[in-house]
Amino acid sequence: MKKISILAIAFSTFLISCDNQLASDRDPIEDKVDSLLAKMTLTEKIGQTAQRGTSSRVKGPLSEELKTAVREGRIGSLINVMNKKYVDELQRIAVEESPNGIPLIFGRDVIHGFKTIFPIPLGQAATWNPQLVREGARIAAVEASTFGVRWTFAPMLDIARDPRWGRIAESPGEDPYLASILSEAYVKGFQGDDLANPSSMMACAKHFVGYGAAEGGRDYNTAIIHEPLLRNVYLPPFQKAIDAGVQTFMSGFNELNGVPVSGNQFLLDQILRQEWKFDGFVVSDWNSVTEMIAHGYCQDEKEAALKAATAGVDMEMTSQAYDNYLGELIDSGEIDLAQLDRMVRAILRVKFRMGLFDQPYRIDKPEVVLSEEHLEKAKNSAVQSVVLLKNDNKILPLASEKKLAVIGPMADAPLDQLGTWVFDGNQKDSVTPLTALKESLGTESFNFVPALDYSRDRSELQFQAAVDAARKSDVILFFGGEEAILSGEAHSRAHINLPGAQERLIKELKRKTKKPIVLVIQAGRPITLENIINDVDAIVMAWHAGTMAGPAIVDIISGKANPSGRLPISWPKSVGQIPMYYNYKNTGRPASAKTFVGIDDIPRGAWQSSLGNESHYLDDGFTPQYPFGYGLSYASFSYDNMTLSSDTLSEGAEMIIRFDITNTSHLEGVETAQIYVLDKVGSITRPVRELKGFKRVNLKPLEKKTVEIIIHTDDLSFYNGNNQLVLEPGEFSVFVGSNAQATMRKDFWIR
Ligand code: BGC
Repeated sequence: MKKISILAIAFSTFLISCDNQLASDRDPIEDKVDSLLAKMTLTEKIGQTAQRGTSSRVKGPLSEELKTAVREGRIGSLINVMNKKYVDELQRIAVEESPNGIPLIFGRDVIHGFKTIFPIPLGQAATWNPQLVREGARIAAVEASTFGVRWTFAPMLDIARDPRWGRIAESPGEDPYLASILSEAYVKGFQGDDLANPSSMMACAKHFVGYGAAEGGRDYNTAIIHEPLLRNVYLPPFQKAIDAGVQTFMSGFNELNGVPVSGNQFLLDQILRQEWKFDGFVVSDWNSVTEMIAHGYCQDEKEAALKAATAGVDMEMTSQAYDNYLGELIDSGEIDLAQLDRMVRAILRVKFRMGLFDQPYRIDKPEVVLSEEHLEKAKNSAVQSVVLLKNDNKILPLASEKKLAVIGPMADAPLDQLGTWVFDGNQKDSVTPLTALKESLGTESFNFVPALDYSRDRSELQFQAAVDAARKSDVILFFGGEEAILSGEAHSRAHINLPGAQERLIKELKRKTKKPIVLVIQAGRPITLENIINDVDAIVMAWHAGTMAGPAIVDIISGKANPSGRLPISWPKSVGQIPMYYNYKNTGRPASAKTFVGIDDIPRGAWQSSLGNESHYLDDGFTPQYPFGYGLSYASFSYDNMTLSSDTLSEGAEMIIRFDITNTSHLEGVETAQIYVLDKVGSITRPVRELKGFKRVNLKPLEKKTVEIIIHTDDLSFYNGNNQLVLEPGEFSVFVGSNAQATMRKDFWIR
């Protein structure tokens, strides 16, 4: 008996200490959330789930109706309020006059800069430099937060394999590994070291998920992605965002495998919350809750509210299905009050983490906006985003004594160089290539004839003037591309070549003058070059590089900076090749250069199966114009002495891949060394290779460096046909080199 009671005392002491332990481990924010939630009325709870807003261009005036809604606690967040006075006034009403003084969060699409515009995200991905990306995001937060924007709807983490899709401009490209590294960089940059700091801007991982797989690249379209592919390719950058501390997710517009993602419980609940333990909140995309009616997935707004809330959308952007029907759905028992509490709890938790209850107001610091330091960083990012695609006869960098003809619609296009999703950047702050050329070369050393007024211009009236200017020059610097409006949301293109009369103009210039042509492309996507690639001597891909695009491009073409950008996406030869991505599957009949017979070489009357019967196009072959990871430098590099620390690994082990890179030129340059792995045999078929590591290496003239990249066996695991993450024993190959076609190879085994 005594024994038992001693045991009982010991046990209860243990329980009490566990309890204390638990109490002290519990995040104090959770207590604050609970006690606030306990005081809130149903109206206020539903209010927290509402995000109201106007389109990006409307700036006011503040309606009495809006003020009343805030005062009554019927709004949790606002989007696109871009007048500092209104931001302050609305926040004051929320904090001082609403029933529980819950602050609002002000959100905005701050995608690649706020006033200081950085390259479009696809361009930033081409830097392969996460530190630079992080700094760019930090600067965006520092500037935007002074206007009260504490929440950005970025980063967009949609893997994109189709450059017809306009939003590829906003994407991190086609590769899940690179996208995951960038995901972390963006989240940490936007959110800073301390989310509660008034200069931090909460990030939003979007669009969860599959939006980039829109059929045919047509925006908002159907996405069909089988689950292992979803888990191996589309989900990793999102999961990485959680590891980096992202506080919000956005559910997209698209349907995935038949269910719109804004009503998709499998994605928003099972994967996001149960598997990944995400404890922030999910906001819908703009009206994506009520758009489930047009999808044919919901009968009406009420059903849309039911399905979105049940699936896991906590806050509804702009449409008002929650506002109109959540109350009714709770009364009828179709939605449990506990479910609404869970939604509101997530929103409040994040508001506490952002420090909004202690410091709800923005801190005005106009001096940071477009500061010299920010412009310098934006220029550096633009320089590093530039990808040199072609450089015949080393025409670039341009020798200073060469007389230039500056031609083309994008030489002086201050709005277009900013790119898509620039709500706050101003074209008057842009420094165009023309301005930068004038500043660095003076006006005497070049003749400027735009010849086309904008990228779609079809008029040939100025062609002769352009030819005349070219005749008086040594080199033609042709600034081509597409206007900002041709990429971005809902701006898909079926043809992705240079629009308007640009190709005709290039051909005319070549035919009539025979002068070398340097084509500088400013565009939101890869541009197919099949019609003109042989007419131009050099090609510089400058994306839409933002406020400082001009000085960055001029530094590159003059040789002040050495190009170091690498493609974050395969560059197709033609639209017909799309989708064209490097991590494809081999098929049972892989194409090969040895057996390939191109369309012009087929003998007339050839026997049906005399061409080898392999997976390729007769006309465009089986390789892209430029592979993923590709980019030239003015320097040249060679690789050798590749070794693996071991050729047999067991689970949990690491392998060091070592190799030497030599700068074989007399110019300093940066080489981005890339590691690709092929898992030769799998329980489901595996991609022909996958990027598993990279390093940017700076090399002085003739310098040689030994580079080490470590991979862990975890990096080689994948989701199998049962959607389990597995590491499968077997033989692997690792390739090292400067792009996805790298050939230096070693094999190893996982036992
Ligand atoms: C886009 C989102 C964006 C939202 C708010 C939508 O049309 O798909 O990416 O964040 O608008 O502007």
